[in-house]
Amino acid sequence: MGTPFDFEYEEILALDTLDQDIQELIQKAELQLDLAYAPYSEFYVGAAVLSDSGTIYPGCNQENASYPIGLCAESVALYNLGSYEKAFKIKALAITAHNPHKALSSPCMPCGSCRQVIQEFEMRQNHPITMYLSAKNVGTIKVEGIRHLLPNSFSKDDLF
Ligand code: THU
Repeated sequence: MGTPFDFEYEEILALDTLDQDIQELIQKAELQLDLAYAPYSEFYVGAAVLSDSGTIYPGCNQENASYPIGLCAESVALYNLGSYEKAFKIKALAITAHNPHKALSSPCMPCGSCRQVIQEFEMRQNHPITMYLSAKNVGTIKVEGIRHLLPNSFSKDDLF
């Protein structure tokens, strides 16, 4: 797992101890690695969101020759959910990654922009989102809410 993180998390020692639907969610995120469109970075990210409705919404990174307009996997997954459900309640978000050029030693962390997106979805449902973060051939950690990854954040409370 590498160096311990300096935020609150739980290391998942055996995936089969997790609820069946969470195991399926993590597997769905892993399947997304094959669909990721990342010809420029060759860094493949898969994500999946489980709604209380029981539906899993997948996402993977979508790059572009115009580099900055590419989209991250977890944002694609969350916006996918938001395109189908209005009053949603997210049970969990899974993110995983594969770098064929370098064996990753720790789970994939959501980038800064995605942390902001995750926070917006927490705000929309008025509840923290449970995240399962992993990477190919690396363990999984569980993080209970984006506040652990995005403290002192900017939010709608600053606007009005
Ligand atoms: N990427 C994600 O999909 N999620 C993250 O949180 C980290 C970065 C993608 C964006 C880009 O396609 C590639 O990984 C390399 O940065």
